[in-house]
Parts: sequence; C-alpha cells; structure tokens
Amino acid sequence: MSSVNLDLSYLDKFVGVEKINSLAEKIAGMHIGVEEKKLPGAEMLGWRDLPQNYDRNEFDRIKKAAEKIKDNSDVLVVIGIGGSYLGARAVISALSPNFGKNNGVPEIVYAGTSLSGKYLEELLDYIKDKEVSVNVISKSGTTLEPALAFRAIRELMTEKYGDKASERIFATTDKNKGALKELADAEDYTTFVVPDDIGGRYSVLTAVGLLPIAAAGIDIDELMAGAAEGMAEYSSAGLNENSAYRYAAVRNILYSKGKKIEILTNYEPNMHYLAEWWKQLFGESEGKDGKALFPASVDLTADLHSLGQYIQEGERHLLETVIKIKSPRSDLVVGSEEKNLDELNYIAGKKIDWVSDQAIAATIAAHTDGGVPNIIVEMDEMSAKNLGHLIYFFETACMMSAYLLDINPFNQDGVEAYKKNMFELLGKPKK
Ligand code: PA5
Repeated sequence: MSSVNLDLSYLDKFVGVEKINSLAEKIAGMHIGVEEKKLPGAEMLGWRDLPQNYDRNEFDRIKKAAEKIKDNSDVLVVIGIGGSYLGARAVISALSPNFGKNNGVPEIVYAGTSLSGKYLEELLDYIKDKEVSVNVISKSGTTLEPALAFRAIRELMTEKYGDKASERIFATTDKNKGALKELADAEDYTTFVVPDDIGGRYSVLTAVGLLPIAAAGIDIDELMAGAAEGMAEYSSAGLNENSAYRYAAVRNILYSKGKKIEILTNYEPNMHYLAEWWKQLFGESEGKDGKALFPASVDLTADLHSLGQYIQEGERHLLETVIKIKSPRSDLVVGSEEKNLDELNYIAGKKIDWVSDQAIAATIAAHTDGGVPNIIVEMDEMSAKNLGHLIYFFETACMMSAYLLDINPFNQDGVEAYKKNMFELLGKPKK
C-alpha cells in the first residue's frame, strides 16, 4: 500500500474509466519519449533520478552546514524567490509547529520574495540583535527581488560580524557562473550547487531546498527516502500502475471538457505553502501557448466561509484536488459543558480531527453534487518521508500533464516579459 494514494472514486459522473484508459497508449508513448530523452526539455530531467543519484558529497556538506547554522544562529534568513524558495518553505511549514520556535533550530525567515521596502526594513530590524545566518539562493544571482534583499542583508551582516560575516553566509547558485557565484567566490562564502539539469520549480530536493530544510531540523534523509519511494512507484509507463500519470490523464480530460481552473484544497493550515509550491510547479510548467488549467488553491475550512459560495454555485469551470491526511494529526477532543450554550455537546468527546474528517467528507460530496469534479490525494501522515513522496508524485504528474498538452514543461520564457518592461522603467544599463 502506497503512502500517497490517488482516489478517483468521486469522478464517476464526470469521467468514465474508459475515457481515462483511452489515454494509456499516448501516455506510454510519452513515457518512452521521456526515458529516451526525445521530448522537448529533455535536458532538464535531472530531477527524475535525483532521489537515487544525488551527490552524496554535497548532501553531507549540506548536513554539516545545517548543523553549523543550528549551533550558532537564532535566525536563518532564506533569500530566494519562486523555485529558489517555495519548495523549502512548503516542506518547512508543513513539518514545523504552527506556533513558536521549533526546539533547537533557528527560526526561518524569508526575504527576497517581494519588492516591499517595508518588509525588508522590518526584517532588518527584527534580526539586527539576533545571531543570524543567511542562505542566499539564486541560480542567476541577478533576480531583482533576492539580489536587492541580499544587498541590504549583506550590509547588516558585515556591520554585525565584520570579517566573520562570510562564515555565516551560504550561497546556493550555479556551479561555475553568474553574479552570485562570482560574489561568493570573491567573499569566500560556502557554496552549494543548483544543478544545470534541474529547473527552479523542480529543485526542492537539491541544495536549493535541502539546506534550509535541514537547518529547520527536518530529516532530509527521510525526505529523500520518500522521494525514492515515489521514484520507484511512478517509474512505470502503465496508466493503471502509475497513479501520477493517472492524475495527469484525469486533469487533461477535465480540461478538455471545459474545466479551466484547478483548486488544490488542504485542510491543515501548515500546508498553505505546499499549495503555493504546487501552483508554481503547474503554473510555470504548463501555462504556455494559450493553454492549461489555471492552478489555484484554497485553505479549508477557512475559505469555505469566503470562496465556498463560488465553488458551490459559481461558474462551472472548476475542478478540485483535495489533499487529505489520513492518520490522526492531533488527539484534542471536544469538551463537554453543562450549559451547552454553543450547542456543541452532541459532539463532546469526539476528536477535533474526527470533526474535520466529517467536514472533508461533507465538502467533497457537496462540491461533487454542485458540479465540481473532486480528485483526492490521500497521504498517510504528515512526515518528511511522505512529503518527499508527494513532491515526486506531483513533479511526475506535472511533467506528463504538460506533455499531454504538447507543452515543454521545463521552460518559462513568459516570465521575462514583465522583467523587460520593469528594467526599462528602472533604467537598467544594457550590456
Ligand atoms: O522556477 C524557476 O525557474 C523560477 O521560479 C526561478 O527559480 C526564480 O525566478 C528565481 O530565479 P533565480 O534562481 O535565478 O534567482
């Protein structure tokens, strides 16, 4: 039994098994194309065998750097944007407590994700009297948001630590070239590599994600073991054996039937950033040539009280993928009260998790009845291993989903358009 299960049992009235199976041959052919590196983007498939073939030496260096950060820092500032930070933030927030500091590990704070001077100023103020380490992550080193944040934080680090600042700055960047690589070499920062054959949104299991994740006290061996489990499970060309491909097939069919938006639904607040990572993965991989489902997300049950009305009765262009965590997340039970003014005694003694499970079942049924196809991705428990597996599941599904639309999943030319306009307005000198 897999630790990540795809449940398509609520789809009957939207997509028949025969329709899904009709894509089997096409998917098997594309699988061979991927294996033989014959499809567009073949040079960016390094993530596929990463869980088995990762650089053990780099992995050990990551663990050592993480130990050093844990030993000497109150705060780790992770500087990066998009694929250079979302994976780390997704895993760290999913596996860290919702409140307060995780014992024995630094607080992880993020910079370089906006152009807000206010945010950066407040961050500098927040960290100025704390023991700080920095992990700056940028393949190019010239991405505006992280480069600006790093410039300001570097200045603070030099003021605080003088010559020793470089011992607290870890740069994850290109192996040989780029602005950050040059700076890191000149300043003698410890460096880690963004591999050439793995794009930003597929890089969470490289140093890009692993250093912050390890510094947050999360077992990266377990994360990789889960991804290796996923790699074994999603290596087959067969639609019936490979649930990542089944998910891709179902998305494709629903898209062709007029569904234009996929919402990823989660019921645990600390999974919010997993959805943010997922949105980038699918949005940046598939949104090309005027095609693809728009990836959106909702945090339930909160958003049932804001977007629930639209999901239930608005335009019927939605499909919903629900992340459900099976095992109990908490043992907290509903108390009993003599006065019972809030009228909750009828569920007194029940776990809050049980209440949540009933809400999940009720919502799936309501949305399905309302014409929103529901796909369930069920995970045994929230653990590093299962998250590694889930990440690999979505990465594989995303690749196949893009190929089914005749799209190269691994380029992102569209993100340059706004940058060109912005740099013109900023008066950036042309090279
Ligand atoms: O997935 C991607 O390729 C992007 O999100 C990049 O990771 C992001 O734009 C940051 O780029 P860089 O790492 O060069 O700073």
